[in-house]
Amino acid sequence: MSDLDTLFEAARAIQAKAYAPYSRFKVGAAIAASDGRIFAGCNVENAAYPVGSCAEAGAISAMVAAGATRIAAIVVMGEGEHLVTPCGGCRQRIREFAAPETAIHVAGPEGVRRSFTLDELLPFSFGPDHLTER
Ligand code: THU
Repeated sequence: MSDLDTLFEAARAIQAKAYAPYSRFKVGAAIAASDGRIFAGCNVENAAYPVGSCAEAGAISAMVAAGATRIAAIVVMGEGEHLVTPCGGCRQRIREFAAPETAIHVAGPEGVRRSFTLDELLPFSFGPDHLTER
């Protein structure tokens, strides 16, 4: 199994655990950290709707809690026929721990549908360098 297949399977497995009773839209995200470890997360909704969290946020939290801080690649798995690209907030969350060329693979149940770089999804982005180069 390729590294991407492994990441895809991790996203698929965690998507099934999503808590999405309100939107009924389950999302899974799996991150390959630069040290080779995989971290996964799912969306977790809340009766107070704005408090819900995205799958990517959960995967990033798991990564950071385990001591890793660099994303080598990420698979986001959604439902339906549309490409489930990361929301705007999650693009910025990914950007904190990734490089412009980091791959963001957008998947459906049948496999990866399209692959982007972070820079394609979040061009001219704001990041940590803006705060340190002062
Ligand atoms: N969602 C994610 O988990 N990641 C995204 O990038 C897009 C949206 C979730 C949030 C909410 O629980 C559901 O999908 C519908 O918006």
